[in-house]
Amino acid sequence: MNFIRFSDLCARGQVAGKRVFIRADLNVPQDDAGRITEDTRIRASIPCIKMALDAGASVMVTSHLGRPTEGAFTPEDSLAPVAQRMGELLGRSVSVVSDWVDGVRLNGKELVAGDLVVLENCRINKGEKKNNPDLARKMAALCDIFVHDAFGTAHRAEASTYGIAEHAPIACAGPLLAAEMDAISKALLAPKRPLVAIVAGSKVSTKLTILKSLAEKVDQLIVGGGIANTFMLAAGLNIGKSLAEPSLVDEARAVIEAMRARGAAVPIPSDVVTAKNFAADAPAQTKNAADVADDDLILDIGPQTAAQLAAQLKEAGTIVWNGPVGVFEFAAFESGTKTIAHAIAESSGFSIAGGGDTLAAIAKYGIEKQIGYISTGGGAFLEVLEGKTLPAFEVLSRRAAA
Ligand code: 3PG
Repeated sequence: MNFIRFSDLCARGQVAGKRVFIRADLNVPQDDAGRITEDTRIRASIPCIKMALDAGASVMVTSHLGRPTEGAFTPEDSLAPVAQRMGELLGRSVSVVSDWVDGVRLNGKELVAGDLVVLENCRINKGEKKNNPDLARKMAALCDIFVHDAFGTAHRAEASTYGIAEHAPIACAGPLLAAEMDAISKALLAPKRPLVAIVAGSKVSTKLTILKSLAEKVDQLIVGGGIANTFMLAAGLNIGKSLAEPSLVDEARAVIEAMRARGAAVPIPSDVVTAKNFAADAPAQTKNAADVADDDLILDIGPQTAAQLAAQLKEAGTIVWNGPVGVFEFAAFESGTKTIAHAIAESSGFSIAGGGDTLAAIAKYGIEKQIGYISTGGGAFLEVLEGKTLPAFEVLSRRAAA
């Protein structure tokens, strides 16, 4: 996909003295006191901001935080804690500007080259979510260059992510958005084969579109969690009282058939780890998949299955990872996910991982540096796996072509 890269504009000296508006995704988790509990997205926004400042721009950065009511600001909605963390990372103080849609001023003055401000939570502005054209035009008028660097919000067509890109004099992708797109293209558009995807989660229903889309592309589709249980049902296995969606067994069978017709496969576990109840201290039992009892809960894949999958992952040319294969938060049921995680880390293939639980597993096993690319997107990453063209890329490629 073709789009203008902000890094190219900077390298060509086209950014000096310009007003640059960066839409980042600074939607970070906070505790009840408003303290940031995880700052990956803020850290990921820094390269773009530095790039703009180093290129001699005046810089405005905004983001949404949570899902506030438009037009009804409350202190909890404020990006002030985000600006403070950003300031710590940049080694300078960063001011937050409120009521900025009709003009941005810092200490009563127009911004000048080298200035950096955070524009207060853009979802407070009336018309943001529905991409109101008047709001989008006003935002576009604030800048010479609009930089979309919010991959986590690339699946939303809102005024600060989409409308502004239509009207700004120049609309381009920031380094984070570009890196995400490059990694996704490498994994899904021109993958080195075999291409193996791991899709795990509690429900087939929430990931059915992803499973169908990947079934057309991948060589191995490893399913995990409640999704795997539904696939085991489809393969005629008893899953006891495990979480599953019996109404979707036909859909699971269709995925298996579609894969088989292409010479690809959905590996069904040959052994599993079960318990009689869902608890960290529930006694774990490893058994053949064919021996699951009616009162069993499947909470992990067994060692034989994990070893087989690990061998396939080590041979993979490309790996797409979304979801742990067992209840890895409980020590007795983490082996499957741990084995898979280490196999991905040791594979010489290119790996891309995304999704909250997946990132938690990556952190738990300390394999961040061995993953080819870790996506900052939650919903956006899933929509990419569904095969959708995200609004951010659609509008940026249209602007690049104009
Ligand atoms: C996210 O956290 O997934 C993104 O910031 C998007 O947030 P949203 O689902 O509220 O649009």
